[in-house]
Amino acid sequence: MSATKKTQAKKSGKRAIGAALLDQLVQEAKAVRERAYAPYSKYPVGAAIATKSGAIYVGCNVENASFGGTICAERGAIMAMVAAGERDPIACAVVTGDEGASPCGICRQVLSEFATDMPVVLVGLGSRDGESGRVVQLADLLPLAFRLKN
Ligand code: THU
Repeated sequence: MSATKKTQAKKSGKRAIGAALLDQLVQEAKAVRERAYAPYSKYPVGAAIATKSGAIYVGCNVENASFGGTICAERGAIMAMVAAGERDPIACAVVTGDEGASPCGICRQVLSEFATDMPVVLVGLGSRDGESGRVVQLADLLPLAFRLKN
């Protein structure tokens, strides 16, 4: 990317995220999806979050016999990030087995707690033509996220 484009990205508040990093996030999300615990829905999900420091945190959905106890993959990844002492996510990937799904409402809110905006890659492993992927922005997924004002 040119210096001018970098400056523009900075000014607009958007960080330039490389395709290589997004690819890496997708690979990590795919791998952690294999470890999902989804005996009730049979819908495993994997998520990976990259932070400013260069680290990657992953999460998978963990269901519960008391269904409300279920934790989504995206929130699992956020919990891992915070527990590791980090609070600056810059990109996220979510992998599902269908045509690709976007994060549920509560996960959008939880992601928005730590990033006003960031790219979110949505990958579906079971699309008609095999794997599919698209990149959306968190700010588009949840405009006007709730923020507590003191
Ligand atoms: N799920 C996620 O992990 N992330 C989402 O954003 C939506 C749904 C999980 C929860 C549950 O284990 C399964 O997918 C079916 O809803």
